[in-house]
Amino acid sequence: MAKIIPVKPFDQVVFGALGDLAKRKLFPALLYRDCDGQIPADARIIGSGRRDLSDEAFRQQIQEAAAPFVDENFVDQAVWKRFLARLSYVRVDVAAGAGYADLAQALKTDNPTRPQVIYLALSPSLYGDAAKNLAQVGLNRPQVRLVLEKPLGHDLKSSQAINSQVGAYFDETQIYRIDHYLGKESVQNLLALRFGNVMFERVWNAANIDHVQITAAETVGLGSRAAYYNTAGALRDMVQNHLLQLMCLTAMEPPAQFEADAIRDEKRKVLKALRPIGKAEIAHKTVRGQYGAGAVDGGYVEAYMDELGAETTTETFVAIQAEIDNWRWAGVPFYLRTGKRLASRYTEIIIQFREVPHSIFDGGDQGLLGNRLVIRLQPDEGVRLNLMTKEPGPGGMRLREAALDLSFAEEFNLGRFPDAYERLLLDVVRGDTTLFMRNDEVEAAWSWIDPILTAWENENQPLELYAAGTMGPTQSDLMLGLKGHKWHGDAS
Ligand code: BG6
Repeated sequence: MAKIIPVKPFDQVVFGALGDLAKRKLFPALLYRDCDGQIPADARIIGSGRRDLSDEAFRQQIQEAAAPFVDENFVDQAVWKRFLARLSYVRVDVAAGAGYADLAQALKTDNPTRPQVIYLALSPSLYGDAAKNLAQVGLNRPQVRLVLEKPLGHDLKSSQAINSQVGAYFDETQIYRIDHYLGKESVQNLLALRFGNVMFERVWNAANIDHVQITAAETVGLGSRAAYYNTAGALRDMVQNHLLQLMCLTAMEPPAQFEADAIRDEKRKVLKALRPIGKAEIAHKTVRGQYGAGAVDGGYVEAYMDELGAETTTETFVAIQAEIDNWRWAGVPFYLRTGKRLASRYTEIIIQFREVPHSIFDGGDQGLLGNRLVIRLQPDEGVRLNLMTKEPGPGGMRLREAALDLSFAEEFNLGRFPDAYERLLLDVVRGDTTLFMRNDEVEAAWSWIDPILTAWENENQPLELYAAGTMGPTQSDLMLGLKGHKWHGDAS
């Protein structure tokens, strides 16, 4: 059963309230929290955008835009009504500075400890202006918390610039850099699995683990995000943040406590230990691809460039062989892969254990596979451990792989898995930074990504075309083949 921990009355402002993220994720997440009774009666939820809108028109737009992302089996009309009544709208021109005084007025409070969260669902290039203009009307007071979306900048330099612009007005403790993958149930479960059980941690090292695969596969294409996505590409959009965060949680040392800085210190150490990929390694340790036309979910889809309506070398697929230079992981490849318009949508972390050192069974080592732990993040969240077992019945000692399978949906009978944003938005209200990225983590991630971007450009790393509906360019299979490995497919 879900446990609802009450939070103090708070204010939530969403900049970019009519944008894609707000409509698809943020407002539905707040609505679900309201549905579960977690939003206090006098909480205020304020949307901000450049357009001139009445409160009523804003409520109507949110209802229309968010409804497709809300399951009516869980949220009835009474909840919708209550939620919409909480919403109001303040017109703010983020860069030009208009409307901030109205926002300050709307956020007036006599309570100096009332959490006031300002979510910047905007292009990161506007974060500096927003921070400055908020500060000018006093909206950087200690109770104000600022939420920044990823990717923060497009390289280390621009990310440092943003951090210092925002840092000039807000204290680091007020800044919440969101990576919504950290709010996914199964990502937190990875920590429970590693540090709540004695059996895994003992074998969680290079002596027992052959390699790790992290795949975030999507079937969606560019959609309506052309303006952003085509300037970012898969490396900045998914690897610099989500995939590296998953790798950090998989590879980090046990923190002394489940506490924000203890965890973030350990994650940062992993990022700092990543072996740089430069000119010499770029061709055999990275693959960049872009989807061509193909079939996804049984329907024809057009090529990326046709969807975009322009020629471009932006990558929609990346595969990387990463290595962590420390005692625990020396020599263990961490394969990272992500792409759009792939064969199916799933995110998995696969821990491939080594084979037994010597087989006592007839036929020697043949057919004895190393154990495989599959942590399934989405969909069908769960954990599976592939083990060698004896085939039942006569016919000798015949071994084959079978799975111990834990499906969270079956085990916990939740009905609905809360979206990552539900948890993270409320964590900000609670002031809990555990699942947010610290400044130095973001910079460490960029420090590893930057040389890859540079080498791609300087070495003219080819952009491999792949048919939509496949698992990316064959070069990604060849990259693993070089080390005698192969990608495990969806749910394998
Ligand atoms: C976002 C990326 O951060 O994550 C998107 O910008 C991507 O491009 C999305 O589609 C994937 O999130 P999820 O939760 O659907 O795996």
